[in-house]
Amino acid sequence: MVAFLLFLLTSLSLGNEASTDSVCSNCGDSVVPYPFSTSENCGDKRYKVYCNDGNLEFLSATGTYYQILRIDPSANKLVISPPIILKNTCYSSDLFMGGLLLDESLPFNISTQNTVILLNCSDNILQSPLNCSSNSICRMFEEKVEQGNGCINTLCCHYLKDSAMNSHKIRVKVGSCTAYTCLVDFKPDDPLETWNYGIELQWLPPN
Ligand SMILES: *[C@@H]1O[C@H](CO)[C@@H](O)[C@H](O)[C@H]1NC(C)=O
Ligand SMILES: *[C@@H]1O[C@H](CO)[C@@H](O)[C@H](O)[C@H]1NC(C)=O
Ligand SMILES: *[C@@H]1O[C@H](CO)[C@@H](O)[C@H](O)[C@H]1NC(C)=O
Repeated sequence: MVAFLLFLLTSLSLGNEASTDSVCSNCGDSVVPYPFSTSENCGDKRYKVYCNDGNLEFLSATGTYYQILRIDPSANKLVISPPIILKNTCYSSDLFMGGLLLDESLPFNISTQNTVILLNCSDNILQSPLNCSSNSICRMFEEKVEQGNGCINTLCCHYLKDSAMNSHKIRVKVGSCTAYTCLVDFKPDDPLETWNYGIELQWLPPN
């Protein structure tokens, strides 16, 4: 019994050491900086990410995987890829999961550097503080970007997802808006060719 307890204690403390000390190995070409964890044996478990076929991915609360485009460990920020818009439709691939939802019990949130473009919206959306004017950048996206073509001539809007907005979700649903994309660090008048597609997340560092 004592021997078993000792064994348990030793393996627990070893387990702890492994989870706080070791940096995960690369996933394909992507570096996986601490505290991110791709397996039981490395990183910090609360910062779980997934290495699927050499692609580093982030899992939402609804079970959708988003590709991780880059990680900036010095700023505690990472950028994930917005969902694709399914061909010949105006449906985001995560539409039936309600869009992007982050698990509120995890140390991640959506940063305040994101400009969200909402597409194929219903009139009821106009009550919220969005820019749905005819010169909203959503029009440019619909007309000039192939993925936006299926949304052409629908009501669309954009807004800066600042601290007044829920920082754990980007909602879409049938009867509201059915597709979205997102730009990081967008400034008004930035030309389309320089748009930086992504959703920037922030994490609270371990202690
Ligand atoms: C736009 O949204 C409505 C429901 O809100 C849906 O019925 C329609 O198919 C959508 N349009 C496209 C082009 O996906
Ligand atoms: C809406 O966005 C466009 C493009 O950024 C901008 O020129 C316009 O002033 C905005 N309109 C409102 C009402 O904020
Ligand atoms: C997101 O989390 C960071 C770190 O915990 C915090 O400083 C920031 O205020 C949060 N942002 C929002 C919009 O809630």
